Amino acid sequence: MFKVAIDGPGGAGKSTISKAAAKQKGFVYIDTGAMYRAAALFCMRQGIDIQNNPERAAAAVDTISIDIDYQQDGQHIYLNGEDVSEQIRTPEVSMGASEVSAIGKVRERLVAFQQELAASKNVIMDGRDIGTKVLPDAQVKIFLTASAEVRAKRRYDELVAKGDDVSFHEVLKDIEKRDRNDETRAVSPLKPAEDSVLLDTSALSFAESLQAVVDIIDKKLKN
Ligand code: DC
Repeated sequence: MFKVAIDGPGGAGKSTISKAAAKQKGFVYIDTGAMYRAAALFCMRQGIDIQNNPERAAAAVDTISIDIDYQQDGQHIYLNGEDVSEQIRTPEVSMGASEVSAIGKVRERLVAFQQELAASKNVIMDGRDIGTKVLPDAQVKIFLTASAEVRAKRRYDELVAKGDDVSFHEVLKDIEKRDRNDETRAVSPLKPAEDSVLLDTSALSFAESLQAVVDIIDKKLKN
């Protein structure tokens, strides 16, 4: 089986690029961030202060069922049977996901689920610890990044297009805070796997970034 691990900070374009690359190659795309987001949404709905009460958050996440399936528009995620694919895409849930993903017990559970999903399939999986922890034997590991300003601008444009009333400054501050959380947490901090290819998309268009990813995959497939 062929496994592609794509890691990198939030807003680097991992999910759009991974999804498009998976489509081109006929691989299954697995968005692991959506799972941390669903776990965070559940805790938030229960009124749990994730950062100050990680034990309670971990116990809550232990009770939930998370499932995914694939429809025409891509991966859908279900929290206890409810399709929450839309609800998990808010700035509040982004921050909650960053907090919940710092909890070791939560990671253990979701990493096991991700490994199960990837078994016996050709996959492109994106996240923060895919090349280092979830799929350490992946044939292709890419660390996809872009400057914080460029990532904030892309996220800002997406939110504005959805009709959200946000300021660029707020989006940039959120991105920087999430980067700090993701890079400094004790368990599986965001860092490139030693054998990953670094791809900085700051100056690349979407099409160019996608081509670069597909080229890296094709090169490995030929060997
Ligand atoms: O990729 P994303 O923005 O949907 O991820 C949401 C949060 O989940 C992000 O702050 C980091 C965390 N995450 C993680 O720790 N490990 C993963 N494999 C995927 C996401």
